[in-house]
Amino acid sequence: NKPLKIAIAGLGTVGAGVIKVLSDNKDIITARSGRAIEVCAVSARDRHRDRGVSLAPFTWYDNPVDMALDDEVDVVVELIGGSDGIAKALCEKALENGKHVVTANKALIAHHGTELAKTAEAKGVSIMYEAAVAGGIPIIKALREGLAGNGVERVYGILNGTCNYMLTNMRETGRDFDVILSEAQDLGYAEADPTFDVDGIDAAHKLAILTSVAFGCEVDFDGVQTEGIRHVSPVDIEFAEELGYRIKLLGIASRQNGSVEQRVHPCMVSKKAPISQVEGVFNAVVVEGNFVDQVVLQGRGAGEGPTASAVVGDLVDVARGVKVPTFSVAADKLEKLKSAPLTGH
Ligand code: NDP
Ligand code: HSE
Repeated sequence: NKPLKIAIAGLGTVGAGVIKVLSDNKDIITARSGRAIEVCAVSARDRHRDRGVSLAPFTWYDNPVDMALDDEVDVVVELIGGSDGIAKALCEKALENGKHVVTANKALIAHHGTELAKTAEAKGVSIMYEAAVAGGIPIIKALREGLAGNGVERVYGILNGTCNYMLTNMRETGRDFDVILSEAQDLGYAEADPTFDVDGIDAAHKLAILTSVAFGCEVDFDGVQTEGIRHVSPVDIEFAEELGYRIKLLGIASRQNGSVEQRVHPCMVSKKAPISQVEGVFNAVVVEGNFVDQVVLQGRGAGEGPTASAVVGDLVDVARGVKVPTFSVAADKLEKLKSAPLTGH
């Protein structure tokens, strides 16, 4: 079988990780895909930066958008980040040119997922974004495949690894908010602009995508009521602990009278609830379906290996010829749910 040729835009934490996974697990990935997955082109800002992987075999592009015009490329893997600008231009151009797109960019999908999906449908290609929600946890595939027979009543969880890492460390070590945030940045967990993490915006991006897949509605980021962890103090955490609770930043989407309510905010979670024991960079997603009852998925929510694992999972799907339902298919053929603004929580 012909190898699947991929172009990777962005060679930071996730991009370099994808090259490593494809190289280290080449044989099992080829066996599972039924064909080889080969990187043919790469792009980043700095051509000479050491990324811990050899880029010598690949064609280098100064401008990643040009990769969308490369006839050799079957799939563009967008790992730059940002809801607009070059990431959006690249994905649009790639889809318009009949190339599949795989991305970890939740900001892009939360803001432009529906329009990108419509372009993909029109061109008969896929846009996949497993890595955009909850890092290494295959929650998008779980909702689309294993849980597809269920109507979802509620989906919620810990969706930001940086915040969970910070809350855990504030409780365990009592260290300062900024010191722990800087540690999370060094570990490659935080967004390029870490206010997206601490102010709950990143979790809201992920929740909007999760809601769309779980409930079959269009992505509605503006409909998410959002509050981050900036105002959670070590004293709050200590009091919660004494009362038998852990403070967790949760994203919650639930069905309410024909609408979906979406919110992200710090919650007091009983220490008896399994999700309270999910610590550090780990994420957890709980799905409540009308036949399955409750399913809980847990795993690393950020960082090189887990995120690259999710990206490569999507690439294996493309290599196998899997077609994914897109947002507009979901919105047209499934439920007509709208997100409802909240009055308080
Ligand atoms: P990094 O900041 O580590 O990497 C970003 C990469 O994009 C860098 O290689 C950078 O180049 C490149 N880049 C930036 N601007 C341009 C440009 N104009 N042209 C070409 N290349 C450019 O980010 P991450 O790897 O952490 O994140 C990438 C994406 O994955 C983001 O959307 C993020 O939200 C998402 N994500 C990240 C996770 C994580 O744990 N880190 C987890 C899940 C999703 P250079 O290196 O030369 O500066
Ligand atoms: N900054 C994000 C987080 C990366 O900490 O969860 C994974 O999406």
